[in-house]
Amino acid sequence: MAELFTPFTLKSITLKNRIAIPPMCQYSAEEGVANDWHYVHYTGLARGGAGLVIVEATAVSPEGRISPNCLGIWNAEQADALAKVAQGIKTNGSVPGIQIAHAGRKASANRPWDGDDHIAEDDPRGWQTIAPSALPFGGHLNKVPQEMTKADIERVTQDFVDAAQRSLDAGYEWLELHFAHGYLAQSFFSTHTNQRTDEYGGDKEGRSKFLLDTLKAVRQVWPEHLPLTARFGVLEYDGRDEETLQESIWLVQQMKEQGLDMLSVSVGFTIAETNIPWGPAMLASVSERVRRETGLPVSSAWGFEQPNDAERAIVEGQMDQVLIGRAFLSNPHYTYELAKALNVDKPSWTLPAPYAHWLARY
Ligand SMILES: Cc1cc2nc3c(=O)[nH]c(=O)nc-3n(C[C@H](O)[C@H](O)[C@H](O)COP(=O)(O)O)c2cc1C
Repeated sequence: MAELFTPFTLKSITLKNRIAIPPMCQYSAEEGVANDWHYVHYTGLARGGAGLVIVEATAVSPEGRISPNCLGIWNAEQADALAKVAQGIKTNGSVPGIQIAHAGRKASANRPWDGDDHIAEDDPRGWQTIAPSALPFGGHLNKVPQEMTKADIERVTQDFVDAAQRSLDAGYEWLELHFAHGYLAQSFFSTHTNQRTDEYGGDKEGRSKFLLDTLKAVRQVWPEHLPLTARFGVLEYDGRDEETLQESIWLVQQMKEQGLDMLSVSVGFTIAETNIPWGPAMLASVSERVRRETGLPVSSAWGFEQPNDAERAIVEGQMDQVLIGRAFLSNPHYTYELAKALNVDKPSWTLPAPYAHWLARY
């Protein structure tokens, strides 16, 4: 029996296997509202057999969107549309998760296929970005963000709380806080982007304040029996890896104390000049270390789509759940390919009967 296909229980939620589809922006919404594209995309992924489907980065406020076409959950219309997506994921056999996000200084960008750069200053589709310090990312993202006031910081924390409440009301059973990828929360923690001299900057305690305050506030509204998780970039590959990793592990321990149930281990992507060792199972040992040193369940993505890499990640205790992204974009039934490759008996992997019956015969 492949370990990848064993159930995984976190709080009151039992996933039918350890395969999860990580959040992947579709850049296909108008006014932040999910539409037929999202419904078909996410229900299709659920039908494909992964235990957990996490809906893409969904902005907690208009200025928190990466692009004008990103999903949002700051109003009732958006929440209603996302409720239909959650129900669709559930009825197709998977658990509905959602990632709530604020893009910080990387917001107000064109879609990847429209340039991936910041929207021009004189283009009315764009907006003023905000960040811990008034430092631009640089290169194609050269807009200078406004340094956040204390009132701004408290407002964004409240936006996360409201978004969590709406996600719960919409039927999501797994919440992921987007604390990674150089977006707002990650940029509070990184010394590359946080040069504040108030209580939100300076040492690791100051730089973690926004993340911990937000997590703590969200935990007040997100029920204890449902998984509250975060995605966080534990290192940048900027030449200071050990130092950053040690600080990150400290932060994850603090998050655990504030009620975090699981961590999605990722890369910071805070700055452009890095030396990321792209390749299969890139974060295997990093993830194993975070799991071991924090005692928290972890998942990780980036190149785990090969069946043996995914299986090894679970068998060797590198993680509790494997995130597979792009392979599912090219084949929503990629779970079936994994099952076949790992010689999994048909009843133990659970595509819906109209598919499973026929695929198991041939
Ligand atoms: C089209 C696309 C959109 C993405 N959007 C998000 C996102 O909304 N939130 C996030 O945390 N990561 C996002 N990612 C990163 C993925 O979640 C995942 O980490 C990445 O694809 C690596 O996993 P893979 O090698 O299995 O594809 C995105 C990746 C892709 C390809």
